[in-house]
Amino acid sequence: MRLIAANWKMHKTQRETKEFLESFLKLLGNPADREVLICPPFTSLCVASEILKDSPVKLGAQNCYYERQGAFTGEISLPMLKELGCEYVIIGHSERRNIFLESDELINKKLTACLEEGIRPILCVGEKLEDREAGLTFKVVETQIRLALSGIESYTDSLDIAYEPVWAIGTGVPATPEDAVSVHRFIRELLGKLNPKSEGKTRILYGGSVKPDNAKEFMKYEEIQGFLVGGASLKPESFVQIVNSF
Ligand code: 13P
Repeated sequence: MRLIAANWKMHKTQRETKEFLESFLKLLGNPADREVLICPPFTSLCVASEILKDSPVKLGAQNCYYERQGAFTGEISLPMLKELGCEYVIIGHSERRNIFLESDELINKKLTACLEEGIRPILCVGEKLEDREAGLTFKVVETQIRLALSGIESYTDSLDIAYEPVWAIGTGVPATPEDAVSVHRFIRELLGKLNPKSEGKTRILYGGSVKPDNAKEFMKYEEIQGFLVGGASLKPESFVQIVNSF
């Protein structure tokens, strides 16, 4: 089933979260054949969890720490997220990698902890503009995935991957669906090599300037099993249009 996920990043207070979700749920109805996920900031998880508990919409977090508890000031653990009803966690978003300098090793530890805790991670990968211009897109994506999945290759069915080219995030300039599809195919092949016993349950999502007016073009391709949406997920009307784009 395709997964349409909202990554709100550092947007929305609790009050704004409540307003969004109340109108979003009315507009959404009961979506068939697709999974809808909202990943608000940590401070909104509690209110979102109350509102979403009897709805078809799932709740996720944007980050986590890999230890279960302890002296880690400012961090949030997986048991804390699980108790709030989070079923997903976004791991290794390019903003975490580039602004907060998260390493592939840290991302690997977080993924491992998610799998142990039974929360489904969405691993984000994607090349920068200079990588693409140097013809390094596939190399960069392959390295990110190999390092992220080191030691947990046999669990690929328990996670999803979002391909988010860094140059397409927040710029209004998405990858062409054809370019995205070629990277998605490459990732699928790589997963097959890393985990020959895979049942193909990993969904490969596209992220980067997905909008209501371009979502349909991506959804024509079976290789694109969903979206991770930033800016266009902040308004109920535009996110609902993206959810309903196929
Ligand atoms: P935009 O949709 O705002 O380009 O952000 C994409 C993204 O980073 C989702 O994780």
